[in-house]
Amino acid sequence: MDFNALTPGKSGWAGVAADALLVVVAGEAAAAQLEAPLAGLLHEALEAHDFALENGRTLTLHGAPGVKAPRLVFAWAADASPRALRKAVAGGAAAIKGGGAEHVALARAGGGALGAEHAEAIVAALDEATYQYRATKPSAPAPSRLARASVLCTKAEHRAVTEGVTRGRAIAAGVDLARECANRPANVCTPGYLAEQAAKLAKSHGLKVEVLGRKDCDKLGMGAFLAVAQGSDEPPRFIVARYQGAAKTAAPLVLVGKGITFDSGGISLKPAAEMDEMKFDMGGAASVLGTLRAVAEIGAKVNLVGLIASCENLPSGRSVKPGDVVTSLSGQTVEVLNTDAEGRLVLCDALTYAERLEPAAVVDIATLTGACVIALGHHRSGLFSADDDLAAELLAAGERALDPAWRMPLDAEYDEALKSNFADMANVGPRAGGAITAAKFLERFAKKLRWAHLDIAGTAWRSGKDKGATGRPVGLLTQWVLARAG
Ligand code: BES
Ligand code: MN
Ligand code: ZN
Repeated sequence: MDFNALTPGKSGWAGVAADALLVVVAGEAAAAQLEAPLAGLLHEALEAHDFALENGRTLTLHGAPGVKAPRLVFAWAADASPRALRKAVAGGAAAIKGGGAEHVALARAGGGALGAEHAEAIVAALDEATYQYRATKPSAPAPSRLARASVLCTKAEHRAVTEGVTRGRAIAAGVDLARECANRPANVCTPGYLAEQAAKLAKSHGLKVEVLGRKDCDKLGMGAFLAVAQGSDEPPRFIVARYQGAAKTAAPLVLVGKGITFDSGGISLKPAAEMDEMKFDMGGAASVLGTLRAVAEIGAKVNLVGLIASCENLPSGRSVKPGDVVTSLSGQTVEVLNTDAEGRLVLCDALTYAERLEPAAVVDIATLTGACVIALGHHRSGLFSADDDLAAELLAAGERALDPAWRMPLDAEYDEALKSNFADMANVGPRAGGAITAAKFLERFAKKLRWAHLDIAGTAWRSGKDKGATGRPVGLLTQWVLARAG
């Protein structure tokens, strides 16, 4: 979709030439601030009980007198915040996207000035509303005609809105890439497929990509990563993707993605119900690719490296078994008590690998634990970091992106659960506090790093009738990297 910022002429919003005019009414006072003829139309609809100032309400009028756009849509927003705006635009877009409109103009009545974050929210809502997975579904509905959106703003707002539109568009491209990767089934999206996507990004966006195979990883000593990979015939891939936007000597930010393209649990086999959703277990890896794309598209002045540890977790005669002890790249040994706790095994070697990049900060992103879903549900990702400044930066980035996280604890007491009689540590603790012990496990491999961990098990995809990848947390990560770039 194409986006721009547009300052209407003398005839105001009603005079804008577009196929649809979407007016977001933000708060009760907003109705009074509308100009004619929009004020009269809204008033009439309210009087007739065809529209109400309530969450989620929209009203579509066709051929409204005095309005140049053939379709006029009112959508209610609870307040003037970007969050409420995003919800209202999502509702309005749902009313428009299936119709004949190709170009929509959006305006917000009520509240203060429109800023970049409002424009970002509008772009995110429209991208979300018009995204359609079709890679393996030829019968999917035809793509929405909606191809162009203009954010209406004043002259004074134009600059900030343009910046927001640019940033929002890049984030949307990253989110879409992450969704496209994660939605593909595991027989298409293999570790090799992820490596190909990275190579494609390298070509289109000027990244440098290096891909390590089983032999290379073995030579390095990635015994934990390869222990997970050994049960599958699908070759593992360790992907290193570099974006250089700053001086060569500037320490990079590093994103580490869990790239399990299918998690059956291995010998500690998962139950059959909903096992298909374990194709989404590479959501962390997908978000790394998406963030690289967004950051490169913006051309941010920062160095960013994506590390992706990708393989399948399957049962076979060669699989790692409960009780096996493996030696990680760090030299620390791990007793694999549960082969379904495989994410931490692939991530620990990737974190150790990150040390050689001498990074300014490292964030790993993983669909790591069911326990995190129990703790936080599907709204906020779990954030773990012993570094208060880094945690604050990531939380703020999540709020800005409307892709929120919540900080979780890392007290030393939780670490005791990982004691093993046969290795430096076990890969699991008890069920209670499972998201935290997983993070404590990773922390043992991040001692030399400024490090944070995002558990996205509850936020990377939706289940049920809207089953599909969300593209989260590309928004959070991109906002964080851009804030770091200054
Ligand atoms: N990929 C799963 C985590 C997961 C499960 C995410 C369900 C979303 C929904 C991970 O590899 C896993 O299996 N974790 C285990 C850990 C346990 C064995 C300590 C879990 O959460 O059950
Ligand atoms: Mn697992
Ligand atoms: Zn997993």
